[in-house]
Amino acid sequence: MSIGKLGVVGAGMMGSEIALIFALAGKQVLLNDTTAEALQRAMGKLEGVLDSGIGRGFWAEEDKPRALANITTTTDLGDFSDRDMVIEAVFEDVDVKGEVFKTLDPILPADCVIASNTSSISITVLSASLSDARQANFLGLHFFSPVHRMKLVEVISAMDSGQAALDVATEACVEAGKVAIQVKDVVGFAVNRMLFALWNEALRLVEEGACTPEDIDIGCKLGLGHPVGPFELMDLTSNTLNLQVADILTDAYGDRFHPRPMLKQIVAAGRAGRKSGRGWYRYDENGRRV
Ligand SMILES: NC(=O)c1ccc[n+]([C@@H]2O[C@H](COP(=O)([O-])OP(=O)(O)OC[C@H]3O[C@@H](n4cnc5c(N)ncnc54)[C@H](O)[C@@H]3O)[C@@H](O)[C@H]2O)c1
Repeated sequence: MSIGKLGVVGAGMMGSEIALIFALAGKQVLLNDTTAEALQRAMGKLEGVLDSGIGRGFWAEEDKPRALANITTTTDLGDFSDRDMVIEAVFEDVDVKGEVFKTLDPILPADCVIASNTSSISITVLSASLSDARQANFLGLHFFSPVHRMKLVEVISAMDSGQAALDVATEACVEAGKVAIQVKDVVGFAVNRMLFALWNEALRLVEEGACTPEDIDIGCKLGLGHPVGPFELMDLTSNTLNLQVADILTDAYGDRFHPRPMLKQIVAAGRAGRKSGRGWYRYDENGRRV
């Protein structure tokens, strides 16, 4: 089975770009959010992403109208009754995600592949919101931000995920230009576990006064060959989300992932990162560093 019709639930930072990469790959994408305004905002953002991608040579001028024409928006999940695959990218909250799956369950075709883009919630736990018959078709697809630039997707198998669904989802991601790695449903999956270990050490260095965030970012880029420094990346992914994920990792693995006091402090101070105009760095209204 190959995916022709895709549904994406949640048109925020991740969902909107997930819709975009599949639309660029020629899939018919239905993008859902709770309000028409959120969907309008997402489509406006995608126009900007498409323009900047043309400027950088990621795709051609003629790909823009084609990709936009492949995305339809809806606030009604009832419109998902003909989808081959659905990817959920709503808030990182087990109850919010669970409600989405419960709503979708009676609507989707019986063989629909269903995936969550959660960064930290167990796929096996999320699958409990679906009826038994659907659990073999449920898995995790963990994309990385910004989705149009980052090549990786972690394909996460829950306890009951079937190989057929994992293969179909992997193939669809490959068609959308991604490289997939297969990971079992361990908390944090593979890449975030490594990332949060690095971030905690970077935060410790700043807390000790050994380095500034700027110097750590330069160190990782020029010394380790990372394209983005840890503090730049924390701001990009949102410190609020990072703190939530750190708490979930701590719950699973204990002290080695305990969120650093400075991360808690910056979140309490409302410095979520690029989205909010201030994090470890300051940003203008277009999200550019100032
Ligand atoms: N930010 C990252 O770098 C990153 C990376 C990988 C995975 N993720 C995961 O992707 C998911 C989305 O993250 P994000 O950064 O795009 O968040 P976001 O806040 O930018 O977007 C979430 C969107 O979901 C919508 N939404 C909320 N409840 C909904 C519902 N019931 N039905 C439909 N839409 C609903 C919101 O209106 C919002 O537009 C989370 O699970 C997050 O953990 C995030």
